[in-house]
Amino acid sequence: MTELDSIHNQVISCTKCDLCKTRTNAVPGKGNKNAEIIFIGEAPGRSEDLRGEPFVGSAGKKLSEMLEKAGLSRESVYITNVVKCRPPNNRVPTELERNSCIEYLNNEIKAINPKIICIMGNTASNSILGKGEITKNRGKIIEKDGRSYFLTFHPAATIYNQELIPVLEKDIQNLVKALDEIKGT
Ligand code: URA
Ligand code: SF4
Repeated sequence: MTELDSIHNQVISCTKCDLCKTRTNAVPGKGNKNAEIIFIGEAPGRSEDLRGEPFVGSAGKKLSEMLEKAGLSRESVYITNVVKCRPPNNRVPTELERNSCIEYLNNEIKAINPKIICIMGNTASNSILGKGEITKNRGKIIEKDGRSYFLTFHPAATIYNQELIPVLEKDIQNLVKALDEIKGT
């Protein structure tokens, strides 16, 4: 069993916080175990809870479209969330829930060892970098503890505000450029 399989198994049977009581399925990350990019969202929604897979609902559809436009397939990257079980009514996960779950995300990152990590939205930004304000910081690369993070909006934001679609598309294209620069190509 790979390290990532072991993390996934821990997630699907986890009872570390109260979200385990209301979930249908816990949702570990999914994708390439050798991915150069990891995308991190907030928490599963309804479709994800039912399927046990991240970003398979309407936000996921947006994300897939934008990846494709940037020349990335979902199979080539790894997609995950800060919190692995759905908060009731899709409320923002609490600090306690985020703190209970963050070890899984940290272990996913360690196991994959990506070249760059794309933080999508305020919850992921707050949890990983300790700062929200995605509107102010989007498009930027932030280095922390030897890792490179690229910040952008959460794809769900584009569902409510269509003006953000081209912004997020451009960001993902810039993320791919940043990866190429890191790789020196
Ligand atoms: N929103 C998220 O943050 N994550 C998902 O997996 C789906 C929607
Ligand atoms: Fe465990 Fe995370 Fe689910 Fe809470 S949200 S039960 S910590 S997997």
